[in-house]
Amino acid sequence: MTKTILRALAGETLPTPPIWMMRQAGRYLPEYRATRGEAGDFLSLCYNPDLAAEVTLQPIRRYGFDAAILFADILLLPQALGADLWFVTGEGPRLSTITTQAELDALKPKSDIHETLNPIYETVKILSAELPKETTLIGFAGAPWTVATYMIAGRGTPDQGPAHALKAENRAVFEGLIDIITDATIDYLSHQITAGAEVVKIFDSWAGSLQAQDFVDFALRPTAKIVLALKARHPDIPVIAFPRGAGDKYVGTHAATGADCIALDDGVTAEWAAANVQSQGCVQGNLASSHMVTGGQELIDETRRIVDAFRNGPHIFNLGHGITPDANPDNVALMIETVRNSG
Ligand code: CP3
Repeated sequence: MTKTILRALAGETLPTPPIWMMRQAGRYLPEYRATRGEAGDFLSLCYNPDLAAEVTLQPIRRYGFDAAILFADILLLPQALGADLWFVTGEGPRLSTITTQAELDALKPKSDIHETLNPIYETVKILSAELPKETTLIGFAGAPWTVATYMIAGRGTPDQGPAHALKAENRAVFEGLIDIITDATIDYLSHQITAGAEVVKIFDSWAGSLQAQDFVDFALRPTAKIVLALKARHPDIPVIAFPRGAGDKYVGTHAATGADCIALDDGVTAEWAAANVQSQGCVQGNLASSHMVTGGQELIDETRRIVDAFRNGPHIFNLGHGITPDANPDNVALMIETVRNSG
């Protein structure tokens, strides 16, 4: 029997939605913190195929999610392209910056990225062998705009100001960077698929800061280019796109990107999204991740409301964004139980 997530992605309406959770392998789990300690630090964990596979499997063993997401990070691709990357504890990622043509020219050609990324493909191979037969393996990459915001600023920024500034002040370098990331991402995801990923997801975490034509040019178009190229090479592999923060601009994103499923953040209501987005194809989402911290009856009520709103079309249950380190693992179990008893 086909795996539930693949059935939803093919457009089937299921009696209860399949479920997985963004950042399901992460610091809220004591077993993750233990394995991360064994690896030394976050990047060493990403590049250690045995330990990265182990942390990917931990939430599957604990909760029986319907999908596992490869444990890696969207910033490994910039590193593979030659950027310096490190993580400052308690603060987040730091990268060497790209703001000039000379820095753009110094990036490695896309044919060289696999040297760095080979351990990631190894992780996928291990997972593909070890996952339970009913569990779908999801690979992923960052969308070009989101990855570019980190490469330009050298860190996460609240408003993506440096990327917007480069877009205004040196369009050629900005567009050149978007093109380089787009082409490298196609090859990166294609290698993940060849290694065993059954679905890929494109995370555009900062899509919401792109307005009007910029949203079309730098969120929708690069994702559409990636989807088109992947569909040509791997016609049977579904793609999930996550233009986080798109708001009203979520309408039409299935057609504009070619993605099989659109992931929704919790900035839109499930009722609105059912009428305006799910009407065009499968959706994923969108419980606010704060419920994983607060739990209780509100978690149950909100979970039921979302399941009900999306009941008449293809839906994969998920959070609106990643689970946070202060979440209570018991609340995750409560969410899953609520979803599975909602039929
Ligand atoms: O979802 C999963 O379980 C798979 C693994 C995964 C991670 N990052 C692991 C991670 C995925 C899919 C990502 C994607 C990612 N990484 C995104 C897009 C999704 C989103 O959250 O919007 C972004 C923007 C990044 C970049 C990134 N990685 C930041 C900004 C940070 C620091 C913030 C933080 O949460 O600490 C990371 C670190 C990171 N990536 C952690 C994990 C589990 C925490 C690292 C740790 O163990 O300390």
